Amino acid sequence: MSTSSDILIIGSGISGLSLAIKLANEHNVFVVTKREAMESNTRYAQGGIASVMTHPDNFDAHIQDTLEAGSHLCDPKVVEQVVCSGPALIQELLQAGVKFAKTDDDHFDLGREGGHSERRVLHAMDLTGFEIEKKLLRKARKNPRIHFLEHHIAIDLISDRHLKKSAKNKLIYGAYILDKNTGKILTLRADVTVLATGGAGKTYLYTSNPDIATGDGIAMAYRAGCEIANLEFVQFHPTCLHDPRAKSFLISEAMRGEGGTLRLMNGKAFMKDYHKMGDLAPRDHVARAIDFELKKRGDRFVTLDMTHLDRTFLKERFPTIYKTCRRYGFDMAKEAIPVVPAAHYFCGGVRVNLKGQTALENLYAIGEVSCTGLHGANRLASNSLLEGLVYADKVAKDILKSPPTSKKDVKVRDWDPGKAIDSDEAVVIIQNWDEVRRMMWNYVGIVRSTKRLLRAKRRVDVLLEEIKEYYWDFTPTADLLELRNLARVADLTIRCALQRKESIGLNHNIDYPEPKAKSKRFNVIRKFS
Ligand code: SIN
Repeated sequence: MSTSSDILIIGSGISGLSLAIKLANEHNVFVVTKREAMESNTRYAQGGIASVMTHPDNFDAHIQDTLEAGSHLCDPKVVEQVVCSGPALIQELLQAGVKFAKTDDDHFDLGREGGHSERRVLHAMDLTGFEIEKKLLRKARKNPRIHFLEHHIAIDLISDRHLKKSAKNKLIYGAYILDKNTGKILTLRADVTVLATGGAGKTYLYTSNPDIATGDGIAMAYRAGCEIANLEFVQFHPTCLHDPRAKSFLISEAMRGEGGTLRLMNGKAFMKDYHKMGDLAPRDHVARAIDFELKKRGDRFVTLDMTHLDRTFLKERFPTIYKTCRRYGFDMAKEAIPVVPAAHYFCGGVRVNLKGQTALENLYAIGEVSCTGLHGANRLASNSLLEGLVYADKVAKDILKSPPTSKKDVKVRDWDPGKAIDSDEAVVIIQNWDEVRRMMWNYVGIVRSTKRLLRAKRRVDVLLEEIKEYYWDFTPTADLLELRNLARVADLTIRCALQRKESIGLNHNIDYPEPKAKSKRFNVIRKFS
């Protein structure tokens, strides 16, 4: 089965949806998404979106905070582009109906998070991502030129090797898409393909991310020949609720922005011992400090103390967190709650330029799947929704300014099922999923060593081989495709970490405890050279 579109966007978070909306006046757009369109990493963003909104804050301060949090490995041009584009794009969100919290005198109620020198985080209490996603989706659904393919998962990008008459143009022609309900595979041809697939938190056993975050875009881009950069910089959010029933539920950093204190199990506040910004230090410092204390003491968690705030404030400012904690038996108005770090955000990804273009023609990447250079060695809190918005805008402008010539008449091969049969051993998938995620947590976590990384590399090589065999022998299912992507992202993360022989930002390796005098800004891996 085959169909075509002007634009194919894979992913329906903030970047995918805002791009679709911007292009749909001029182009037909298909948005492919693995579950219902609302399900995305964006939906779960609690803290908010950082943007300079009011005096005394200013662009320079936001730029400096971003550079500082990123250990000065950020690309300064990118940082400037993102920070300075913020206010205008926030206006567009407001026009789309997004409601950010306001104070009694009708000013934005700006929050603060780790690494920020000012209050500059716009929020909708602790449901910021949900509010943005809901309003963008409402707008996108009203546009008849945006077609949603929900419950569909991309298998691979269509590149030159999938043409009937093979070529060496480094062009992308769309993607092969599996309909999760029927099992049918669609050849979706597009003049432009955009990866907006989000992150890969599910590579780790403990993550704040939803189940969809399996690194599909990174893995597909790698297989097609894109540059993948800086995957070693995996950000661990310092505070997820420690409770086996809570699936690493995120406890927003905005709570520390309201004066929350991290304490050891004996009640001692410890962050001042690690960083001058104390509890509001950038995330890499906080997560590492917690990891160090837990390992030293053999404790299972530290605590976050919010008891200085009254119940009414906590309930109103953090309704979801408050309710969720109560559900698991924790009353944050009365007692400090147990927290631990969990994998949260991939600062690396598919390498793109200032316009969001990848190294392959007609292929863009936006949002968490991409590596723009904004985050450097560690992302500043709440900069990611902003980055998603800004790069959607850049890509839209690039496409509208120079629309690609149609490739719809190029003859592409339909999906060839070969001799694949239905699997009779789905247990292999469950086993391998579990193995990848546990191995990444144990060997490629907050603090690394070369020995552990090499051990992880040997394991992932075996897993990749096994998954490859399975992939060719059996008809693809969503679980198998996700596992294949997850294992590839694990492999690339390990290789990036092995390649970066220094400790900087989120990459801490005890065998190379110091940063280099001149660190590589982009630590690149690609399949074909
Ligand atoms: C949080 O609310 O702590 C998450 C915000 C972010 O990751 O930027």
